Amino acid sequence: MEQKKHGFSSKVGVVLAAAGSAVGLGNIWKFPYVTGENGGGAFLIVYLICVLMFGLPLLMTEFVIGKKAGKSAYGAFRELSGTNRWQWLSWCCIITVYLIMGFYFVVTGWCTNYLYEAIMGSYAGLDADGMMAHFQSTVSSAPRMIGVGIIPILLTAGVLWFGVNEGIERLSKVLMPLLLLMMLLMAGRVLMLDGSSEGMRFMFQIDFSKITPEVVMMAAGQCFFSLSVGVGMLITYGAYMPNSQNVTMTSLQVIVLDTMVAVLAGIIIFPAVFAFGFNPAEGPELVFVVLPAVLQKMSFAWLSGVLFFLLLFVAALTSTISLMEVAVASLCEVSRHRLSRHQSVLIVTAIVTVLMVACVLSETLFAGSDMLVTQILMPLGALGMSLFVGWYMPIKKKDLMPQGQTPLKRRLRPVLMFSLRWIVPIAILLIFLNGLGVFDAVRG
Ligand code: PHE
Repeated sequence: MEQKKHGFSSKVGVVLAAAGSAVGLGNIWKFPYVTGENGGGAFLIVYLICVLMFGLPLLMTEFVIGKKAGKSAYGAFRELSGTNRWQWLSWCCIITVYLIMGFYFVVTGWCTNYLYEAIMGSYAGLDADGMMAHFQSTVSSAPRMIGVGIIPILLTAGVLWFGVNEGIERLSKVLMPLLLLMMLLMAGRVLMLDGSSEGMRFMFQIDFSKITPEVVMMAAGQCFFSLSVGVGMLITYGAYMPNSQNVTMTSLQVIVLDTMVAVLAGIIIFPAVFAFGFNPAEGPELVFVVLPAVLQKMSFAWLSGVLFFLLLFVAALTSTISLMEVAVASLCEVSRHRLSRHQSVLIVTAIVTVLMVACVLSETLFAGSDMLVTQILMPLGALGMSLFVGWYMPIKKKDLMPQGQTPLKRRLRPVLMFSLRWIVPIAILLIFLNGLGVFDAVRG
């Protein structure tokens, strides 16, 4: 079997790297605050439906595209279609990836800052109000935020400089299980706090009247973001997959792991929010004020704080690595390999640093790029890919599962094709039209 360039050394490596990309700040920072702002249980149920309806088919789609084309998001559509007609989709992916990196590195910078503070004991002893004031004064210092934002950029660039294989695999293998374990311990501690049951009710009690079109839109966007689909990330990893890899199993594993971490984050945050008297609809700062408060209640508070923020930082890094990998691999292909991988890493690092600084300096840019990415660009990318595979380049049976035939496997392909041709595109279009206010006009 031909050895693909920068290939992963094992199948487990691909699962871990893709899961490492999926599991990140989207699960631990974004999921709780978006759930808090959009009605708790009502949001959760719509989110889970989106994961099944969009997540699984789209993950498989991206993997298959990458695996067949053996190219990154930039070259894959041209390679498979033999025309330039789908190039807009490649550019959509690449622009999205840069926009995500701009604000993602800012929040990874917040993690860096809290890791440092956990080590120094800076927030020890603060009460709920104190935590809030502390967060606000920390993030309002632009020079400090730029400093802590540059650290993860340099680390990510460092990992890419030394290649996919050694960097990503080694990191993911050890730390993902550790993160899950740490979160389980935290959830256990939080559930022992007085008043925590109200948080569980907030998260799991479904009030159907709260399911509005906006909630559906936010849930769909969050699903794309959290699973890293719609930006060609998994196309790039699919290109590194060993040929014998089972795309369906890999996708399922990534989805289960990602959803588990998000729900677990909710089980830590919401009971604590109610126990400490915070507001669940606090917004982006929610996790950064609640988690330090929780960590102070743990036994071995200092050690728990340091360990948790270290793991969060690494979870964020495995996501930034995947994002920067898309940008680097694409830049190499855009330049027709006139730029070496190392040169591409340097150029991407410079661009991303500028974007990160811009997002630190302008809150509008920070919130705006987040919104633009999750509400418009990622759904658009996903729509394009489902149409591409659904109508243009139908998936063959052997693309999905390499060996053997069982009744289940035989049935999988038609279901997947139907969902890529009809369900996914129509659902995304409806969500878009609703966002544009078309249905409001109809409702009068
Ligand atoms: N899925 C990542 C997270 O949840 C973010 C991400 C999006 C990473 C798109 C890569 C591509 O944090």
